[in-house]
Amino acid sequence: MRHFLTLKDFTKDEILEIIDIGLEIKKDLKNGIYKDELKKQTLGMIFEKSSTRTRVSFETGIFQLGGHALFLSNRDIHLGRGEPVKDTARVISSMCDMVMIRTFKHSMIEEFASYSKVPVINGLTDTYHPVQLLADYMTMIEYGIDENAVVAYVGDGNNMTNSWMMLSAKLGFDLRIATPKGYEVDGDILEESLKIAKGSGAKIIVTNDPKEAIHNATIVTTDTWASMGQEDEKEQRIKDFKGFMVDDLMMCLAKKNAKFLHCLPAYRGQEVSESVLEGHSKIVFDEAENRLHAQKGLMVWLNKQK
Ligand code: CP
Ligand code: NVA
Repeated sequence: MRHFLTLKDFTKDEILEIIDIGLEIKKDLKNGIYKDELKKQTLGMIFEKSSTRTRVSFETGIFQLGGHALFLSNRDIHLGRGEPVKDTARVISSMCDMVMIRTFKHSMIEEFASYSKVPVINGLTDTYHPVQLLADYMTMIEYGIDENAVVAYVGDGNNMTNSWMMLSAKLGFDLRIATPKGYEVDGDILEESLKIAKGSGAKIIVTNDPKEAIHNATIVTTDTWASMGQEDEKEQRIKDFKGFMVDDLMMCLAKKNAKFLHCLPAYRGQEVSESVLEGHSKIVFDEAENRLHAQKGLMVWLNKQK
């Protein structure tokens, strides 16, 4: 049995296999074919933070595979009132076939997974957002961008950045990250990614200069400046991130026809301009839709490993 907590635990071949299964299922869905690969299975979904895409894609995804989802907000279950993670894990995993968790501390899902009898999926922690990267890479494949991509991430060094570093290190495409001073990526994860990247040939660089990161990039991406849980820092961050908005002038520095990705939700006028987001809305909303397809691939793959 495998858990999906971070891309670090997966090989390049496994990541690509999961995405391939997702693409197959997507093709079937577009042709009106539904295969009940997870018939009668239940996915428990624990949400300690808000979500639009993650909730809708997992809930719809398991249903389309013949199963059922339980939305478990921490306001409604005893976890939110102090029932220990290890007890919650043993109870929920004795009844559900898979569990997806969105929470704050990454150590919470690690602890949950260590007590769980069924696969646990990371639906976002403060440290990583790996399911988003499955959808992002699926989108890159569909748009004909692969290992030769040069991805520029401009913004906060956060869970998305950490996940991009792991994906780049595993798959071998180049990644350039520009963050303002004081908002750099996690040093340990950077070091780990650089070690893994030696095997794949990926070049990962970090800088405080967005122009250096974007120059000749084939993909430009960003994320909110204030992640969930950092709402109190929002005003300060808006000041500190001055000069980091991905706007048309910034996009001009990237390769001609460079694509823009955003995991969403997007804050127009902050990390991205209205014009860049709307100008790339086709790929950005394909990326969002691919959450559904990639995660169906993931759930089918995890079920096969049981
Ligand atoms: N990108 C993403 O995970 O979106 P939600 O927060 O809406 O789930
Ligand atoms: N970094 C963002 C991603 C949202 C999908 C957050 O954690 O809020």
